[in-house]
Amino acid sequence: MLSVLRLRRLVRQVPLQTSFIFLFLLCILSVFLSSYFLFAIKRKLEPSLAAGRSADDLYVTPSRPLPFLSGVGGTLSSDGSRTDPVVLVFVESPYSQLGQEIVAILESARFRYRTEISPGKGDMPTLTDGQRGRFVLIIYENILKYVNMDAWNRELLDRYCIEFGVGMIGFFKANEKSLLSAQLKGFPLFLHSNLGLKDCTVNPKSPLLHVTRAQQVFSGPLPGDNWTVFQSNHSTYEPVLLAKTRSAESTGLMHTSVVQDLGLHDGIQRVLFGHNLSFWLHKLVFVDALSFLTAKRLSLSLERFILVDIDDIFVGKEGTRMKVADVKALVETQNELRRSIPDFTFNLGFSGKFFHAGTDEEDRGDDLLLSYVEEFWWFPHMWSHMQPHRFHNQSVLAEQMMLNRLMFHRVFVLVTSTEEYPHLKPARFRRGFIHRGIRVLPRQTCGLFTHTIFHKDYPGGPQELERIIDGGELFLTVLLNPISIFMTHLSNYGNDRLGLFTFKRLLNFLLTWTHLKLQTLPPLQLADKYFQRFPSDTEPLWQDPCEDKRHKDIWSKEKTCDRFPKLLLIGPQKTGATALYLFLGMHPDLSSNYPSKETFEEIQFFSGHSYHRGIDWYMEYFPLPSNSSSDYYFEKSASYFDSDVAAVRAAALLPRARIITVLSDPVERAFAWYQHQRAHADPAALKYSFHDVITASHNAPVKLQVLQKRCLAPGWYATHLSRWLEHYHHDQVRILVVDGQTLKTDPASVMEKIQTFLGLENQVDYHKTLAFDPKKGFWCQLLDGGKTKCLGKSKGPRYPDKQSQVFLRKYYRDGNIQLSKLLYKMGQVLPGWLREDLLNIR
Ligand SMILES: *[C@@H]1O[C@H](CO)[C@@H](O)[C@H](O)[C@H]1NC(C)=O
Ligand SMILES: *[C@@H]1O[C@H](CO)[C@@H](O)[C@H](O)[C@H]1NC(C)=O
Ligand SMILES: *[C@@H]1O[C@H](CO)[C@@H](O)[C@H](O)[C@H]1NC(C)=O
Ligand SMILES: *[C@@H]1O[C@H](CO)[C@@H](O)[C@H](O)[C@H]1NC(C)=O
Ligand SMILES: *[C@@H]1O[C@H](CO)[C@@H](O)[C@H](O)[C@H]1NC(C)=O
Repeated sequence: MLSVLRLRRLVRQVPLQTSFIFLFLLCILSVFLSSYFLFAIKRKLEPSLAAGRSADDLYVTPSRPLPFLSGVGGTLSSDGSRTDPVVLVFVESPYSQLGQEIVAILESARFRYRTEISPGKGDMPTLTDGQRGRFVLIIYENILKYVNMDAWNRELLDRYCIEFGVGMIGFFKANEKSLLSAQLKGFPLFLHSNLGLKDCTVNPKSPLLHVTRAQQVFSGPLPGDNWTVFQSNHSTYEPVLLAKTRSAESTGLMHTSVVQDLGLHDGIQRVLFGHNLSFWLHKLVFVDALSFLTAKRLSLSLERFILVDIDDIFVGKEGTRMKVADVKALVETQNELRRSIPDFTFNLGFSGKFFHAGTDEEDRGDDLLLSYVEEFWWFPHMWSHMQPHRFHNQSVLAEQMMLNRLMFHRVFVLVTSTEEYPHLKPARFRRGFIHRGIRVLPRQTCGLFTHTIFHKDYPGGPQELERIIDGGELFLTVLLNPISIFMTHLSNYGNDRLGLFTFKRLLNFLLTWTHLKLQTLPPLQLADKYFQRFPSDTEPLWQDPCEDKRHKDIWSKEKTCDRFPKLLLIGPQKTGATALYLFLGMHPDLSSNYPSKETFEEIQFFSGHSYHRGIDWYMEYFPLPSNSSSDYYFEKSASYFDSDVAAVRAAALLPRARIITVLSDPVERAFAWYQHQRAHADPAALKYSFHDVITASHNAPVKLQVLQKRCLAPGWYATHLSRWLEHYHHDQVRILVVDGQTLKTDPASVMEKIQTFLGLENQVDYHKTLAFDPKKGFWCQLLDGGKTKCLGKSKGPRYPDKQSQVFLRKYYRDGNIQLSKLLYKMGQVLPGWLREDLLNIR
């Protein structure tokens, strides 16, 4: 049967596999796009808390049964599909602490989001896309930014929320300027600030509770001194969390520190927090608020799978290994955990060679452990605990593994997991993937490592380990991951048995505060579960091995990142990218890829099915670097430009590459593409006229619709370019947009610009190496002896019939306007054809 090889080691087979992976955030601040939809209305930013009651007449709204919500104007739409599942987060700045914590939770739960700086320069992003809402939920890091928004934007946002049933989460952060008591402007809600609180309880009647279990009192002071509590007698407000003020010994009055607005006041449902997320219970309630306010569209189920790996069985140093009593405790604890996690079983990773390598007492522990072989799940490390990448060939590696097999009659690796391969930090970016049939799941750390074996020596003290468990990182890992595989080591189960302590305590905490249904599965089934749950994780994302020292260390010494291209020419098709490819190849410092053995043309690595073959395959397309400092490889695949996946993949492997795209009039491009298809005898292109193709409707034959999409979609320049910008946006110099028309009429000037863009020391004057061929009507490479080398034949007419032109002008109009804004933002010159097009629009 079996299982998981600990990847830390498997990975080191890497000369065989070389998989480096990196997952990028798919959501990135789209600062570029948003600021075009500004309303230049001056903002009032002063806090506008009207004087209110004094702090001593605080009282709490009594809990009451819930009003039925769906009748309220603009509550959650029942089908839930009128908005995109994207959260709009207004943060105070890109670096604000709370904003980052909000984003971290969204990312961990894999919820899509977009951040905007509020107040910004008055920018409210576009909220709708035709009939659809673009956001399912609004979050304000500082709710006052919402309350004090100018009337125009406020109206816009409120109307959006009501029409699309979109709710809001806001945090109230008291500062020196906040009045102690005030009314929240425009709401029947009073705030009392700068309080110290203690003894928090969850309102069991709160409708938003999902994961959160309201049973226990959190005793003791809540973190921070400047809490705000909410008070109202309006029936729209329902407390979620209640706490006492630290001073109010006698009265025992409970104040609302998190309040839910049921939408009865103005039709918008809200959840307001009187403090940031540093209190762990706020994180739990925040996750429930996300779920409730989005009608469970952004919601994790209550099912949680947990697997605990114990690595290095038999490997531990003499004196730190498990003795007979430790092994017994392990079995007992396992039985105890099974009462709450059915069939819970520790998953033991072993290296056979070190069996009986401890003291006599520890050797007896080994014997007992072995006698319990059926009690546990097992998986192999290397026989002698070596790093697989130190083996020169696969047969020797296999031999080593077979030794383990002789011992246990089980080996073989179909599923494995890793916490550092990819070596991604923070942990929320770890992803599973499948490579060569081996399924790799992400692994979590739980605060325990080989060296953490005694309570008293725990880094930061024993209370630090408790903090990690009780609402800290370990708790959050389980809260936010449907499947958690934890790494621990043999030494955590001898000595003070911190492993047993940790998981018993974690379980107890989870059962006390959550409704999570804890389960476990053996690795193979767990992998099935994982890839069912995250189907998009099957594809690896190859990462630049030289960007991470640990990756570089396990990479074959013979390989070099200089064998990767430093420039990608991404197309699109039929804009002149092929001519540019030829011209670039004429430069002595630039070397192009070898042509593909399969297609004889482009490699299409990042956009095509060859991506799963891995980076060794890709590197084979480039010569071994002779002199790494001067070799400058480039690659052209015109399919990259409009590919959904090419940009994120290219940025993962080639984060420092330069990108060139050639854009010509999309109308001209579409027509040229169609003619190209005809020239290559594409049956559909031969059958239908250009006008048929571009105007085909939803009812048209599928073949025609497919042709139409391939013809028109690459011309949505703004859409594709902004995707590339998202991944190559660190500095704008990385992407150069070349005007396809200028490339045609004055290629030498374009080449000059490109050489500067690439920072080539060796500037070549292309006036001397290119010649205009009057017969063909374009510029060609000038060869020795006055001959020219040209690409292809002269083409037919540049533009289609008038009617088609009119149709396409209109079709591409909005996209072209967006493109001009993008290029402006990038500080790039607008191509002549685009300027002309924009003039015609006005
Ligand atoms: C939350 O507030 C506390 C107390 O004011 C502060 O120490 C902490 O850094 C804040 N955390 C975040 C994430 O803003
Ligand atoms: C709380 O607010 C008071 C003023 O109201 C301020 O003096 C104090 O520094 C604040 N404390 C924290 C921890 O932010
Ligand atoms: C709520 O309180 C306000 C002011 O304290 C008062 O004017 C109002 O009548 C109260 N409303 C209800 C429903 O009790
Ligand atoms: C693998 O390496 C071993 C020892 O270095 C050698 O004896 C064996 O021939 C090698 N096998 C292959 C297939 O290269
Ligand atoms: C390698 O490149 C450097 C500068 O780029 C040059 O000085 C040196 O001569 C080159 N070496 C070889 C062997 O080409």
